[in-house]
Amino acid sequence: MQVRVLGAAAGGGYPQWNCNHPNSRRARTGDPAARPRTQSSVAVSADGERWILFNASPDLRQQINDNDVLHPRTGLRDSPIKAVALTNADVDHVAGLLNLRESQAFALYGTGRVLEVLAANSIFNVLNPELVVRRALQLETVVALCDAAGRTLGVSVRAFAVPGKVALWLEDARKGPNFGSVAEDTIALEVLDDAGATRFFYIPGCAQMPADLQARLRGAPLVFFDGTLWVDDEMIRDGVGVKTGKRMGHMSVSGADGTIAALADLDIARKVFIHINTTNPILIEDSPERVAAEASGWQVAYDGMMLEV
Ligand code: MLT
Ligand code: MN
Repeated sequence: MQVRVLGAAAGGGYPQWNCNHPNSRRARTGDPAARPRTQSSVAVSADGERWILFNASPDLRQQINDNDVLHPRTGLRDSPIKAVALTNADVDHVAGLLNLRESQAFALYGTGRVLEVLAANSIFNVLNPELVVRRALQLETVVALCDAAGRTLGVSVRAFAVPGKVALWLEDARKGPNFGSVAEDTIALEVLDDAGATRFFYIPGCAQMPADLQARLRGAPLVFFDGTLWVDDEMIRDGVGVKTGKRMGHMSVSGADGTIAALADLDIARKVFIHINTTNPILIEDSPERVAAEASGWQVAYDGMMLEV
């Protein structure tokens, strides 16, 4: 499978539009050690021709323009994007669907819960229902991804719930400390090549690392994982926000209960941080945190990064 990182930043992108944190300022100066990034999404293909997007970021129009494999090829209206699979209903993962209007056929996959919130929001009717087929992913079930006409694309996914939180725009404080979140609000995708040769995990949002998730990831050839924050109180400490990572549904990269430690001994061949917040020092190539992440065997995703698995 070919994997192309379309966007590596968290919601808001890097630099975020209203952020004047030193990290964001450095990206605006054109510093090559602080490369800007669009909001998180990857494209996957088994044949190099037909592509599946994992999440549709608000920056999708730019991402398509920046990646020639996603350009129209034949006829007057065409797209190699044959399917989109969603891991949650966060703005940074669904708003890009609005870019995919203009009567182009593709298949849209998400959990029943995520498809339900899209169906309840009539702006998504711009995806012509005669052409865009919405299909529910059942948890713990391998689904062969297909185009709108039902032709298999050579890639299957097994969706499974990970610790997380309902999308910010759906939070309901009356429903208790987790705002009414249910298992289908935040999923990970185990992505399987239909030839049976390989697989990888796509997990751009995850709030904790329970033992059963560690067990699933053990021995994987490739894992993309939530790299939102370096430390849980990063936004508070740096004076740019009031929320911790835990409050936002993200475990942090560093520390005894962080991602680097949690995935250290799992024999994972390639580990890549994605969904990286504008404040995270791993975005800066010469920062001690970036050096530490790389020394621990992690890569920091960037827009245009290409991987083969
Ligand atoms: C998140 O990942 O926490 C969300 O994308 C936040 C947001 O919706 O801005
Ligand atoms: Mn997000």
